[in-house]
Parts: sequence; structure tokens; C-alpha cells
Amino acid sequence: MDKMTVRDVEVSDKRVLVRVDCNIPLDEKTGAITDDSRIQATLPTIKYLIEQGSRVILISHLGRPKGEVVDKLRLTVVAQRLSQLLGQQVGVTRDCIGAEVEKSVKSLRSGNVLLLENLRFHSAEEMDSSLFARALARLADIYVNDAFGTSHRSHASIVRIAEYLPAVAGLLLEKELDNLGGILENPVHPFAAVLGGAKVSDKVGMLENIMGKVSHLLISGGMAAAFLKAKSYEIGKSLFEADKLDTAAGLIKKATRNGVKLLLPLDVVVADEISDKAKVKVVSIENIPPDWGIVDIGPQTTKSFYKELRRCKTIFWNGPMGIYEIPRFAQGTQAMAKLLASLNATTITGGGSTAEVVIEMGLADKMSFVSTGGGASLRFLGGGTLPGVEVLLDKNA
Ligand code: 3PG
Repeated sequence: MDKMTVRDVEVSDKRVLVRVDCNIPLDEKTGAITDDSRIQATLPTIKYLIEQGSRVILISHLGRPKGEVVDKLRLTVVAQRLSQLLGQQVGVTRDCIGAEVEKSVKSLRSGNVLLLENLRFHSAEEMDSSLFARALARLADIYVNDAFGTSHRSHASIVRIAEYLPAVAGLLLEKELDNLGGILENPVHPFAAVLGGAKVSDKVGMLENIMGKVSHLLISGGMAAAFLKAKSYEIGKSLFEADKLDTAAGLIKKATRNGVKLLLPLDVVVADEISDKAKVKVVSIENIPPDWGIVDIGPQTTKSFYKELRRCKTIFWNGPMGIYEIPRFAQGTQAMAKLLASLNATTITGGGSTAEVVIEMGLADKMSFVSTGGGASLRFLGGGTLPGVEVLLDKNA
């Protein structure tokens, strides 16, 4: 990575403002954290700073409160979890800027950690406001971006703040860019991308960008419906983006031109409605009934994917194979997670729901890397620059 990291600057006894992405899922009813992996992922940076004797000030968003104070989106639960994981008290403020916060920061000693309240309680955050960025910047001497998952957003705590403080990358950000950058720059071949999820539109940029780099492209999930339709299959009442049929047809042509082996489902699970009470059956893609819709890949498809993937040396997986939120439609997605976990290849998974499945199944440590970024990893793999990375100091600066 050509950006300076937290290791390249003197942080001892400095006030270090670390932007983390603790936008974690919470239980609807209890408000408890249901998956703390984003918090865990940022521990190396925090621990490094504690060891160096910095005064650590963490900032994050949680959810989309749109400039309002929403009590259930307070960061108290995050501070509690951080305290447990670090084995030391992490205090949390009632706001992220202002006199009270400045007082709390002043009382920090070397090695202390303080978490400031949800940045998005201020609409100025998402407006990339200079005033808001300056109010944050005056709390610290150095700024560290460790929020890979939010680095595609031009927000005040991600972009504007770099105008007011020396800005460097955290260790998680570095790891994400090295891993995802590695598959773009130097993948060991054969290299397969397994793409699922609901929409083609979310993935077009990434598909265009990786087409010249992969040897195999395996398409599943809701987006497979558009590809099947573009190949003139009847897809019943499967959801698909009607305005993306030409895009899908163009991508099929591009794959052929580039010598990429494109695999679409051979059979699918169809249901008469999207509910856990639906009637379901497995059919070949030639026999999708008019009143049924695709909800998962079928066993023949899983087998054909397995046959290709076990020969690959690098595999990137983004997006579930079906409507995995309904357990009866999750078999294809779970089979893919197990398959990738069993292979002797570099396996990288990215995107919110893909990471969620892998973590839920306890398979994260069987993958080479699980990205913490959803939109950010898609943007990065689409060849786009991440504004939150662009603004950091260059290594040779
Ligand atoms: C994410 O979960 O993708 C990041 O935390 C960014 O959140 P956002 O999509 O609400 O900006």
C-alpha cells in the first residue's frame, strides 16, 4: 500500500483520533450486538496505539439516524464490548463534539481509550462539513482511518478531516487494501469470482473490472435470474431487474470475448411464494413454472460449481446464492461457504451478507480473508478509488 500507516508516525503520548466502522448489527428487540466482528477487526490498531502510549479517541457511526439523536443507536453497547475485549475501561461520551467532549479528552492519560458518541447524530457528518470536521480535529494531534467499510463515503470524519490533521491508515484498512488489492493485481490463476446477491446493478462495476482478470465467473442468487432471462430462459415470477437485461447480455458477450468460463445455474430451487411456508421444488432451468420464482441454486448447480472451484487457486465470493435469510432457501449459500472453507486456495469473501453467513457458520477462520466492507469492497473491486483512502498521506510524502 502506498499510503502511510499508523506505524509510520510518532504516536507516543499523542492524542490519536481513530475513525472505526463499528456499524454492527443489533438485535431488534434487545439492542444487543449480534455480530461483533467489525469491532474485533479494529482491535489490532487500538491495541497498537495503547502499547505505544497514545491517548486513543475512537469515532464511529452506527445505523442511519439522519442527523437525529436516536437512543437505540447510541454507542454504549460498543463501548461495553470494547471494554471486555481490551480488558480495560472504554468510556463513552454523550456527543462527539463540544465542550463536554473536549473536557473528557483532556482527562485522557497515555494508554486510555475513549469512544465518542455516534457521528451521524449530526447531519454535518454526512454533508462532509468543514465546520464539523474542524470540531473533531481540534480534539487530536493525528487522524487514523481504520474504517474500511465506510471509506467509500465522502463524509466529514472520513474525508474532510484530513484537511486539518496528519492522516494515516490504520492496520485494518491496510490489511483490507492489501488483500483486496492483491486479488486485483496479482491473483494466482485459475482465479474464480463467485457472485450472488439480489441485483446485477450493485455488481456491474465490479464485474466489468474483474472480467479481464478472472478465468471463471460463477453467477447465482437473484442476479442469476437476469442472466438466465437474457439467455431467453423462462424465469417464472423470479424477481429481476428488467432494465438490466441488456447489461447482463453485454456481460455474457464480454465473458466470451475474454475467454472467461461463465457458469450459470443448471437447476434451481423454486417456491410459490417468498415465505418459510412456501411450497418448494427443485427444477432444471428449462422447467421453471410460470407461477414460481427462483429462491436458491439446486444440487446440480452446487456440484457443477464445486467441480470448477476445486481446481481454482484464487476465489473471491460476494453475495448469497439465494434468499438465505429464510432458512429453507439457505442451502446453496451454506454449501458454498462450506466448499470454500474446505479448499486449498486463497479464498476471499466480501460484502455484508456474505461475511455474515461465513461468520454465523463459524467458518471465518477457514477463509484466507473476510472483508469487513460491503459497499466499500464493491467500489474498490470495481476499480474505483475510495475517497477515505485518497486523502491519506502518501508513503513518500
Ligand atoms: C456499511 O455497513 O456498509 C458501512 O458501515 C457504511 O454504512 P452506510 O451504508 O450507512 O454508509
